[in-house]
Amino acid sequence: MCGITACVGRDDVVDVLLGGLENLEYRGYDSSGIATQSAESVAVVKREGGIEELATSLDAIEPTGHVGIGHTRWSTHGAPTDANAHPHTDCEDRVAVVHNGIIENYADLREELAAAGHEFTSETDTEVVPHLVADALDSGLSPDAAFRAAIDRLEGSYALAMVVAGEDAIYASRDGSPLVVGVGDDRQYLASDVPSFLEHTSEVVYLEDDDVVRVTADGHDVTKIDGTPVDRPVESVDWQPEDAERNGFDHYMLKEIHEQPAALERAINGRVTADGNVKLEEFPRGSFEDVEDVMFVACGTSYHASMYARQMLAARGVSAQVYSAGEFATTPSPVDENTLVVAVTQSGETADTLASVRLAQERGARTLAVTNVVGSTAARKCDDALFIRAGPEIGVAATKTFSSQVAVLTLLAERLVEDVTGSPSEERADVLRALERLPSDVQQILDQSSVESLAARNRDRDGHFFIGRGVAYPVALEGALKFKEITYEHAEGFAAGELKHGPLALVTPDTPVFAVFSGDHDEKTLNNVEEVQTRGAPVVGIGSEESTAVAETVDEFIPIPDTHPLVSGVLANVQLQLVAYHVADLLGRSIDKPRNLAKSVTVE
Ligand code: AGP
Ligand code: GLU
Repeated sequence: MCGITACVGRDDVVDVLLGGLENLEYRGYDSSGIATQSAESVAVVKREGGIEELATSLDAIEPTGHVGIGHTRWSTHGAPTDANAHPHTDCEDRVAVVHNGIIENYADLREELAAAGHEFTSETDTEVVPHLVADALDSGLSPDAAFRAAIDRLEGSYALAMVVAGEDAIYASRDGSPLVVGVGDDRQYLASDVPSFLEHTSEVVYLEDDDVVRVTADGHDVTKIDGTPVDRPVESVDWQPEDAERNGFDHYMLKEIHEQPAALERAINGRVTADGNVKLEEFPRGSFEDVEDVMFVACGTSYHASMYARQMLAARGVSAQVYSAGEFATTPSPVDENTLVVAVTQSGETADTLASVRLAQERGARTLAVTNVVGSTAARKCDDALFIRAGPEIGVAATKTFSSQVAVLTLLAERLVEDVTGSPSEERADVLRALERLPSDVQQILDQSSVESLAARNRDRDGHFFIGRGVAYPVALEGALKFKEITYEHAEGFAAGELKHGPLALVTPDTPVFAVFSGDHDEKTLNNVEEVQTRGAPVVGIGSEESTAVAETVDEFIPIPDTHPLVSGVLANVQLQLVAYHVADLLGRSIDKPRNLAKSVTVE
């Protein structure tokens, strides 16, 4: 988590750093700071709180500099205070460092440095780094060599950026956390993620683990830690700056909910043939002939999209499992070269998911990333990558990327079914037709949804339960995740059949139950609805506009366009996104940056 930004130019870069941090705030937002460099020293301004607190301090202090680094923090070591905010410096303010990740051996290093006379001013793991660099400078090393000597001592995960007094350059390196260089004309940029500098340049260079980069106003040099030069290609990102802006919406989340028709168009575009076949350029028919078993590894919303995909495969005879990536990384299931491990990750940087990929590869499995970010670690580390093309997602709550993940996983599932079982699924043509209709079906929901009024009746309740079966089960889990994540109200999702095995004890007239109907197994879910109604709970049903049985049984009905049951979950989910959004809005929550969370979870 956390966002690093850095800029080096020929004139003052403080405003660029502040803008870069504002664009990265979704990665962490408990404190922030910047450091600029001059011939004699580094100057740091840092504050607890959001970027606006930092901006106020910058207005008062007015620091300047043409080389600088910035950081917006999601703390792992030490509370979010002014002192623990980044950048961190050495005792003499010669070196300033920002860090994303965890230095696992920091306690030993700190003890050693303290014994040598270094004074620490924070509780962070990060602070050992500037002191290590200072030590190396004192022993006569150049800034470049001192930086390499310091990172050579580190264990754990990091993206680091450093400025040194008297050096018109930024030094940076990564191991396990993302870093990307932005190539400008007379200014160069560096950041954890492209949106940080997208308004200035879309030419980027993705760094790999163990790369060390030195960035000056004229360009950048990438080497390995031992100094061997490496050539990293300059790539063009096809995201537009306005894609990463709010464009008149109150929140990024609402904007991204409304972007779903366009995102789905892009996800599907060119991937379905006129005669109803799947056309995945990267994976022609036969690409998965050797696959015997499919394992999805993912976290949070991506985990729910993976559960959805597992249902599609298992129902059509392909052996498939889904694992929470943190658990897979702890206790991996046996895999072999006939296992396809699919890492589903919007950001492509989630540490748990990447750890699962590493383990799967070590054990000989084939790996595939399904991701939104072209230059992401998952895309580069996995054997293959399939992109969901959703465009940048800034709101911490994943919305459009769930829909696009499910759409792309539907296509992948059809390809897998055909390759693994030897024949296409019976319903392939119907599913693909429904998929092609999905953008306009979602648009219809966005045009007609009236859940705002329902939201008013569903705030301030004891709890909110979400149930479903088949593909409606992951949608129920996703509905509950979105609800709790942005409203801070208690919400849980359950497989509809599981309620009576325990959770029913929690059901009262003050716990609304949201029941999701996909069009498959609806009668059974209706039985579960009756069970909760008997206990007095009001039931909100989300199902096909043509399902009179559902509409007549539930207490409130949220219709979705009638479509194929395997696709309908995406539509139900859009309604649940809107429910969560409107309840959170009524409660005045921090919708785009919910407390304690960050968009990209780069620590295990
Ligand atoms: C949910 O809204 C998300 N905030 C979170 O659960 C997210 O889906 C999870 O952290 C996984 O991220 P990824 O898709 O980037 O790997
Ligand atoms: N471990 C560092 C800290 O707690 C960096 C955390 C981050 O990635 O934001 O300050």
